[in-house]
Formats: sequence, C-alpha cells, structure tokens
Amino acid sequence: MADYKIAVLPGDGIGQEVTAQAQAVLEAAGGRFGVSFEFSEALAGGSAYDATGEPLPADTINLCRASDAVLFGAVGGPKWDGLSRAERPEYAILTLRQEFNLFANLRPAVMFDPLVDASSLKADVVRGLDLLVVREGVGGIYFGQPRGIEQVSADEERAIDTMVYSTPEIRRIVRVGFEMAALRGKKLASVDKENVLDNSRLWRRVAEEVAKDFPDIALSHVLVDNAAMQLIRDPLQFDVIVTENMFGDILSDAASMLTGSIGMLGSASLNEKGFGIYEPVHGTAPDIAGQDKANPIAAIMSAAMLCRYTLKRTDIAEAIEAAVSKALEEGLRTPDIHTPGMKLVGCVEMGECVKRHAGG
Ligand code: IPM
Ligand code: MG
Repeated sequence: MADYKIAVLPGDGIGQEVTAQAQAVLEAAGGRFGVSFEFSEALAGGSAYDATGEPLPADTINLCRASDAVLFGAVGGPKWDGLSRAERPEYAILTLRQEFNLFANLRPAVMFDPLVDASSLKADVVRGLDLLVVREGVGGIYFGQPRGIEQVSADEERAIDTMVYSTPEIRRIVRVGFEMAALRGKKLASVDKENVLDNSRLWRRVAEEVAKDFPDIALSHVLVDNAAMQLIRDPLQFDVIVTENMFGDILSDAASMLTGSIGMLGSASLNEKGFGIYEPVHGTAPDIAGQDKANPIAAIMSAAMLCRYTLKRTDIAEAIEAAVSKALEEGLRTPDIHTPGMKLVGCVEMGECVKRHAGG
C-alpha cells in the first residue's frame, strides 16, 4: 500500500499538461526519500461538465474526501462562458474550497535568481523577492448572501453580491497570517479598505486583537489600493500579506507577475486539519493549451507545497524546489519566461528536467 493517496484533478486547458508533470516530479522526489504515492484521477471543470453535465461530479468530491491531498490543475475556458453559475467550470474549485472548508489560501511569490531579467520590473526592484499572500478562501463577497440578478422592471435588472465576514472567520485567517510571519520575516501587512468598508473596519479591529498574541510580529495595515501600488513600487517591503478573498485574488495575480510569470507560482488551500488542495495560481490558458508551451513550474511548486503542508515533509519540498532552481540555472525556459540566450523548451522537457533533479 502506498504511503499517501493523492487525488489528481487536472481540469481544463493547460491544467492537463502541467498536472502530469507535477505528478511525475512528486513521484520521483518521493521515491528518493522512500515515500510512495497512489494517484487517482478525476474530472473537474469544463471537461467534467462535458462528460457528465456537472463541473464537479459527486465521484470527484468523494475521491477528494478519500485522499490525503488534492493536486489540482486549472478550470475554465471560453467554451463554457455562457453557462449558469452552477454549471461553470469555476464552480468546481469554489465548491471544493467550501466543501472542505479551505479557508487558508497560501500564495507565495518567490523570485528565482536566474529569472530576475524575465520580470517586467527592473531587476533591482525584484531581486530577492520572497513574499507570501495569505488569502481568505471561503468567505467574503465570493460566497455572501444575498446574491443574484433580479428583474426590477421590464427594462431594468439589478445585481447583488454581498461581502460578509464574521469575527471567527477573520480571526482564523489573520492568525494564519501571523503564524506564517513568525516562521519567516516577522512582518505582517493586513490589507483592507478600512476607509470605505465596514467589513474592513471589523477586519482591522480583529487583526489588532490577534496581534496581542504575537508581540514580536510587526503588524501594519495597508489599504488595498495602496497595497496594489506598493507591490509594484517596492515589493521587497513585504513579507506576509493577509487579506480577504477578493482582495487576495487580485493582489496574488499582481504579486505573481513580479516573479516574471504567473506560470511560476504554486498555491495551497488548507483547512484546519492540514488537508489541502494544491494548484497553480495560473488559469487554463486556452490560447496555448495542448501545444506543449505551458510552464509546469507553478504546478510543480504546488506539489512541493503539498509535501510541506500536508505531508509535513520539508525535505521533499526543498528537494523539489532545488530541482526547479537547477533546471532554471541550466538555462531551460518555457516561452513565458524566455529571454535571449536561454534554451527554449516545452512543458514536457521542463518537467522532465525538474524530475531528473528531484529524483536525485
Ligand atoms: C483563483 C482564480 C479563482 C478565484 C477563479 C477561477 C474562481 O482566479 O484561484 O485565483 O477567483 O478564486
Ligand atoms: Mg485568481
């Protein structure tokens, strides 16, 4: 019997290609440390909708429930844009987050030194970047009630979305922010819109309360518009950022691009028990899907996070991260991070190179 059961949900578009590489790297790195995995694949997203009429079939949820962790690809694509909310591919990941109460979404943005010239910002602004966005994952405007589009009169409709947070919901995610900061640079920026939103006024008050338990962490409060600007102006000032669901969605895309490509960054969505879904921050990239052009590193970095947070195996996680560094030092570059003089490779070749190094 294998040591760990991993559910693999490749999803749509490049999700398929990058997840295959991440799985292979995980297997190779595990093998090196004597850890074995049993991988089981299931449908999610648009491909699940096409096959079963639902973006998240019950079989998929059951497989996740019977597994130690989930390796997720990406879901969505123009083909499914016209569907209703509960039919859309995105419903799959949003429902999984809710179903397993994955409130803590960790999105690290780390600059690999060989890529400083691939960033759209000047090398000096991003060299050494190592920040972590802790995004709340199961609350806020993504899930608040009431919501919907209603008919006001014959020629007028009205849409409603509700942002709602309770003190326990804020407390637990802010606490994760402090705990992460304690393991890293001891700085926590809590991002809100306190000058406008009541949600943010409550958020700030709770953050101040939780701060009393972490006297050696420097807490600052940053308004979200300023945070977006500061991320581009001087990203090195940040260590850990903690924020609500939608602000975190937006800021984590911005943070990811500092590293050269959104194709570099993995993420973890965790619940209180350490169960998690691990997925690249990027989407399905329908424009390059099936062409062996995707960057598998984000998915591979997600597999490293799986080792760190669910398996609690820092050694395997570090072996995978070191393997990624080696592939980059050797000059391998997928199109999204390619710069002149570097070796242009596809998804498979990049994945195989990382796998070779990760297997030791
Ligand atoms: C993300 C994505 C999702 C989100 C979408 C696909 C629903 O953008 O994981 O950042 O908004 O959470
Ligand atoms: Mg997003």
